[in-house]
Amino acid sequence: MKDSYSDSTIIVTGAAGFIGSHVSEALVQRGDRVIGLDSFDPYYDPAIKRHNVSGLIEDERFELIEGDIRDPETVADAFDCGRITGVIHLAARAGVRPSIADPIDYVTTNVEGTVGLLEAARRSGVKRFIFGSSSSVYGAANQVPFSEDQRIDRPISPYAATKVAGEAHCYTHHHLYDLPVVVLRFFTVYGPRQRPDLAINKFVRLLEAGEAIPQYGDGSSSRDYTFINDIVRGVLAAYDSDLNWEIINLGSSAPIRLDEMIGAVAEAVGVEPRINVMNDQPGDVPRTYASVEKAARLLEWSPEWSLADGLAEFVRWYRDRQE
Ligand SMILES: NC(=O)c1ccc[n+]([C@@H]2O[C@H](COP(=O)([O-])OP(=O)(O)OC[C@H]3O[C@@H](n4cnc5c(N)ncnc54)[C@H](O)[C@@H]3O)[C@@H](O)[C@H]2O)c1
Repeated sequence: MKDSYSDSTIIVTGAAGFIGSHVSEALVQRGDRVIGLDSFDPYYDPAIKRHNVSGLIEDERFELIEGDIRDPETVADAFDCGRITGVIHLAARAGVRPSIADPIDYVTTNVEGTVGLLEAARRSGVKRFIFGSSSSVYGAANQVPFSEDQRIDRPISPYAATKVAGEAHCYTHHHLYDLPVVVLRFFTVYGPRQRPDLAINKFVRLLEAGEAIPQYGDGSSSRDYTFINDIVRGVLAAYDSDLNWEIINLGSSAPIRLDEMIGAVAEAVGVEPRINVMNDQPGDVPRTYASVEKAARLLEWSPEWSLADGLAEFVRWYRDRQE
C-alpha cells in the first residue's frame, strides 16, 4: 500500500454502477481524487444509480461527470479535471441476454467507447489503465479452471464478443504507445448494489415476495460467484501494481451449480424456494470457473469471501434498503 494518494486523480467510468460505485468509494476513502464518468444509462432504473452515488457526491474528492463515454467532448472534459494519473474503465452495456437483441449498442459503448478512452489515456500519459472485462470471454470452454492464456476466440454472445474486442484494443494501445494496461476478467460479481437483472438480486427479490424462481436449464450450469469486496480489492491491487500489460482473472474459484445456488439463496432468505424450470437461454455459458493463480502471483490477491457469508451480507443489505 502506498503512503499517500493525495496527488492521485483517477477517472472511474461507470462510477454510478454496481462495481464502479464501490470502487469509487474505496478510492475516495483512501484519499484518491475520483472523476466519476457515467451516463446513467436506462438499462436498469437510473434512480438506483443516483442512489449508488448519493454518498460519494457529498465528498469533495469525488466529482461526477454525467455523460457518455462515446462522446469525445465528455471524455475530454473528464481528462481536463487536473492531471489524470489513471483510468479504471468499468462503464459498459452489461448483461448477456439483452446483448442479443441490441448488439450494435453494445459495440458502440463497449468497443468504440473503450477505444475513445484508450486514445485519451495515451495522449494524457496516464500511469495505468484498468479495463473491466468478463469471464464471458471464455465462451463455452470445457477446460477448467479458466486460465488467462486459454483461447478466447469463441465468444457466444454479442456482449462477450465486445469484451474480447475491448481486450484486443487494450493490447494494441499498450503495444503501440506503451500504455500500461491491466485487463481484469471479473467472474459473476454479487453483493450490495448488485445489478437488479443479475441472478442473486433477482432471486432474493422473488423469494422475499413469495414468488417462484425461474431456473434456466436443468440446474447443472455453474458460476463462480465473486463477492464485490474481493473484486474491489483486486481492482485496487491491479491499479497500484507496476504491471505494464497483463490479463488477470478475478473470481472466487469456487463454482457452484445453479440449483445449489438457488438452495443457498433460499437458505439465506430463510424460505423454501418454488422453482419454475425454463429452457436454457441462448448466449448463456454453461460454466465459469476462474484460475486465480495469476492474481495470487502478480497481485498477491485471493478471494476471501465465502458464498454463504456473501449471501448473508447481500440479504442484510437488501432488507435494510427495503426499510
Ligand atoms: N457484475 C458482473 O458480474 C460483471 C461480470 C463481469 C464483468 N463485468 C463488467 O464490469 C463493469 C461494471 O459492471 P456492473 O455490473 O457494475 O454494471 P452496471 O451496469 O451497474 O455499471 C455500468 C455503468 O456504466 C454506465 N454506462 C453504460 N453505458 C455508458 C456510456 N455509454 N457512457 C457512460 N457510462 C455508461 C451505466 O450507466 C452504469 O452505471 C462492466 O464493464 C461489466 O461488463 C461485470
